[in-house]
Amino acid sequence: MSGPEGPIPRDDGSKRMRIIVVSNREPYVHRKIAQSVKVDRPVGGLTAALDDVLRAAGGTWIAWGSGSADRTVVDDRSRVAVPPEQPAYQLKRLWLSSHEVEHYYHGYSNQVLWPLCHITLDRISYRKKHWDDYCRVNRAFADAVIEETDGSSLVWFQDYHLCLAPRMVRERDPRVTMAHFWHIPWPDWSVFRICPQARELLESLLANDLVGFQTPLFARNFMDCVRESLDADIDPGRKTVTYQGRTTHIRSFPISVDYRKFDAMASSQRASRMVRTLRERYGLKDVLVGIGVDRLEYTKALVKRFEAIGLFFERSARYRGKFTFIQIAVPTRMKEPYLSYKKIVEAMIRKINRKYGHGAWKPVIYISTKMDHEDLAAYYRLADLAIISSVNDGMNLVAKEYVASQTDGNGVLLLSELAGAAEELEGSLLVNPYNIEAFSDSIREALAMPLDEKEARMKSLRKQVGEHDIHAWVTSVLDAARSLDDIKRRESRPLFEFADEVQMRLGNRELFLFLDFDGTLAPIADSPDRVVFSSPMRSSLERVLGSAQLAVVSGRALDDLRHRIGIEGIVYAGNHGSEVLLDGSVLRAEGVDRSAGMLRVLLAGLRDALSTVPGVLIEDKGITASVHFRLVDPSLVGEVLRIFWDLARGYESSFRITTGKKVLEIRPRAAWDKGQAVGRIMELKGRSLMPIYVGDDTTDEDAFRAIRGCGISISIGPNAEADYFLRDQEEVGRFLDWLAQVLSLRQGQGQAPVAADPLARDVVDA
Ligand code: UDP
Ligand code: G6P
Repeated sequence: MSGPEGPIPRDDGSKRMRIIVVSNREPYVHRKIAQSVKVDRPVGGLTAALDDVLRAAGGTWIAWGSGSADRTVVDDRSRVAVPPEQPAYQLKRLWLSSHEVEHYYHGYSNQVLWPLCHITLDRISYRKKHWDDYCRVNRAFADAVIEETDGSSLVWFQDYHLCLAPRMVRERDPRVTMAHFWHIPWPDWSVFRICPQARELLESLLANDLVGFQTPLFARNFMDCVRESLDADIDPGRKTVTYQGRTTHIRSFPISVDYRKFDAMASSQRASRMVRTLRERYGLKDVLVGIGVDRLEYTKALVKRFEAIGLFFERSARYRGKFTFIQIAVPTRMKEPYLSYKKIVEAMIRKINRKYGHGAWKPVIYISTKMDHEDLAAYYRLADLAIISSVNDGMNLVAKEYVASQTDGNGVLLLSELAGAAEELEGSLLVNPYNIEAFSDSIREALAMPLDEKEARMKSLRKQVGEHDIHAWVTSVLDAARSLDDIKRRESRPLFEFADEVQMRLGNRELFLFLDFDGTLAPIADSPDRVVFSSPMRSSLERVLGSAQLAVVSGRALDDLRHRIGIEGIVYAGNHGSEVLLDGSVLRAEGVDRSAGMLRVLLAGLRDALSTVPGVLIEDKGITASVHFRLVDPSLVGEVLRIFWDLARGYESSFRITTGKKVLEIRPRAAWDKGQAVGRIMELKGRSLMPIYVGDDTTDEDAFRAIRGCGISISIGPNAEADYFLRDQEEVGRFLDWLAQVLSLRQGQGQAPVAADPLARDVVDA
């Protein structure tokens, strides 16, 4: 799937999103072999499928750098262009310590989530320290994502290793579009609830805009788990989950293979030559051939497969000497229980070969070295039948690769009904790996199947895989992500084009108008002290003040804010709402002072660590602090973020840290956010009023959400969380004048304000 004819247009104008794939496993591994460096491609469905995607679309892939020479080939941002022979995208590597690999990867990922989702519950082994490192490594992935994202990015997480990263990214960048594809099965609630962190995992996955599963059943199971454990709104018709004000779309996208690539490889002269060589090398003349291609993985049920093959040779003596099964089994995750599993499988194969083999004929040929796809295509073509025996499998790409390689049109696919692929692959011979006798009968049935039946079955299989190949999969996932991105942007509408609608919503209600300061009432400047509050804006604000309640809610310290605006009769909320000046007294969120000492320590550390980067401005506002990097050279911003998070990460249990417009905001967890401040102010001063909130930055989104359903939210520039948007400060001024006019007309007509909206009460609980 390379080259411009791929399904993903390289240049599709405004709709183009920069793809950032994030996965545990990397698509290329650099290994030191003697004095040289060798590039390897790991075995597994995830990397096989997604490398094709990024080759065509370009972008960045963030993954754990697991190879012995990985560090030697990357640049100073840990990036290397791949594929080596024809670079098409950037691979950004993340470095894990051996402890982290042990705990996060072999531990929580492969000893809890993998067996849980594949319902091999006896194999689950949970340790708290594994979970701790799982959190830590997910945080590191989230940091790496934040370094790479911009306004046009689609962050596309892969699989179960990275359940927590989406929420960590969302907390810092509420605007980014995020999708997550779950390559493995998702079990039902009766199984998933075994997980000690079930709720946290679900909550974090719901920070994505889109979560994709291999089959509709897995998507349904996921929604059932959400229903059982979270207080979320589930719309099964739209396939959405709304949790804490965010909506996530849940869909199924069965993954596939590059059909044309396998078809071409299998019909090549190279493949024909290789088929002849293999027949000679393994003595397969006049012998029927079966194939199995797997990671040496217990969920692929190799033990059951060889029980069935053993039974087949026992009961079908006429096939002894006439049928050979080639098993390619590549070692994987070489720790327990995989080490023991390998021994068991190999012992079974030896036993079958000892018992039934004779002369030069071997019932089973066992290959434990990894093959590349070109060689595999030849093996697939050689084989009269393929066996997939998984006891549970997200999809199983080998099944589809085998079909795509059947250029002669007469192979038979024996497919476990418990693999995701079984839902699509009409024409395969379905087997239940737990029913060994029937399984072994199916092998005989496949070998004895009349040619016309084989051809008819394979025809329908090839049609299915050909029409639903990896190109179709990518297109459907990306289309879904793009349309969500469009919806998110469209949901906020230009206010002046909807002025009639806004006026209708205002009705005759008395209003409480809340405004942010920087970026809303005044344009952003290079540094906070250079921001100017213009006199026309002051006049516009004063005009509204006569007929509505007013509050200015800002990230600035309260005193700074009050002095800059200097209008009497307004409520001022500083430090993102944590200190509120109302009717002459100051209200402060309880407990915010407790973290003051810790904040000073963090700021001292940051000042020190960031002193080498020109342009960083650290603003200490007492309760909260901001690290501005507007003046930093763009090439150094990644460095600033890295230094910042290295230090700030350890403080996240006490502080909420978010990214705004070229600024990192540090707020004590006990502090009120702007939404809570709005609720508090309404409660004390305007219970019956209708709130309108105008703001431009991420911290204003808390307020947009707090008044959802009972007020009107207005952002500066489109924002998915707001009802309408104004383009700039000039439009903010116009809006204030328009509002003053609407209100004075209303007063002129002597209309009495209507009764309080019962919904307005909700906001006081925010
Ligand atoms: N594979 C490979 N070389 C091998 C064995 C397997 O490239 O020697 C590839 C195989 O072609 C397929 C992937 O590994 O693309 C396995 O994907 P599948 O979905 O079948 O199972 P997973 O390993 O992801 O559970
Ligand atoms: C499956 C998983 C992938 C994983 C692959 C290989 O396909 O869904 O996430 O990468 O197996 O496993 P490994 O542990 O070697 O990455």
